[in-house]
Amino acid sequence: MKNTISVRGLRKRYGDVQAVDGVSFEVPEGEFFGILGPNGAGKTTTLEIVEGLREADEGRVELLGLEPWPRNAKLLPRIGVQLQATSFFERLTAREQLRTFGSLYGVSARKADEMLETVGLAEKADVRVEMLSGGQAQRLSIACALVHDPELVFLDEPTAALDPQARRNLWDVLRAINTGGRTIVLTTHYMDEAELLCDRVAIMDRGRILKLGPPAALVRGLDAPTRISVASGVLAAEDARGLAGVDEVSDDGVSLVVETRDPSSVVAALSAKDALDGVQIRGATLEDVFLDLTGREYRA
Ligand SMILES: Nc1ncnc2c1ncn2[C@@H]1O[C@H](COP(=O)(O)OP(=O)(O)OP(=O)(O)O)[C@@H](O)[C@H]1O
Ligand SMILES: [Mg+2]
Repeated sequence: MKNTISVRGLRKRYGDVQAVDGVSFEVPEGEFFGILGPNGAGKTTTLEIVEGLREADEGRVELLGLEPWPRNAKLLPRIGVQLQATSFFERLTAREQLRTFGSLYGVSARKADEMLETVGLAEKADVRVEMLSGGQAQRLSIACALVHDPELVFLDEPTAALDPQARRNLWDVLRAINTGGRTIVLTTHYMDEAELLCDRVAIMDRGRILKLGPPAALVRGLDAPTRISVASGVLAAEDARGLAGVDEVSDDGVSLVVETRDPSSVVAALSAKDALDGVQIRGATLEDVFLDLTGREYRA
């Protein structure tokens, strides 16, 4: 399959900060690709270079077979970009904003209005952009990125300010676009979102890609235990420790949690002791992979 994006040996320094430090990846046509990483990992800088908004110090980028830098006007109608920091034409209403954006690419007013509907902003059509809430402004900026039906869409933390309903709505919109054959690249801090949407994710930290692969493969690669929790009191911790297949047991007075690599034996044993009240079974998630790679300490 053709690569929509090909990035080789990308580097970018701002003063003392090596924001991007040797990044390479490929995104095949039609893929839903995610970039994850802590604050300051270099995600936005990487995206902006790939989008042609910033010049790299080193490395090569190919976008739809073309070089995005210096700014390539041929690429503009073919890509959609939603920036992390939203900016609009001043003093326009939401509808005017989107129609103006659309008209730059020959999109009809009707199509622009439909997109306003798609992101759930029809009610706010006549509201000036300055008066939109944070999440509404974000939806409008997503609509601007999608209005001309680009082949390739870049979204930098598109769901950061959205309420749960709007997030789910956007997931549906993005999935439909992707199913229609469009390539999507998104950054997010929501691991559930990445796990749900992305075919592959790159986990970045300190300007480098630490791991890249399908979320499920990364999770399996972690070889983490399954956690089975039941209500405290249904079984004593000592008794739980004696069950076959149990690695670790803890009890905080609310839940008794058993870690195991043999969940079926443990569940069968708990069931035999009639000790499955409030049972929850949790395997490793992408969040565990993320924390395993990037550490648990909090950084600036
Ligand atoms: N315009 C700039 N000038 C100087 N330093 C910058 C600039 N933009 C980013 N940086 C620095 O480069 C590093 C990478 O920033 P970047 O915005 O790419 O991170 P990010 O992964 O997008 O983070 P976040 O999750 O917070 O959006 C950070 O240390 C940041 O302080
Ligand atoms: Mg960013």
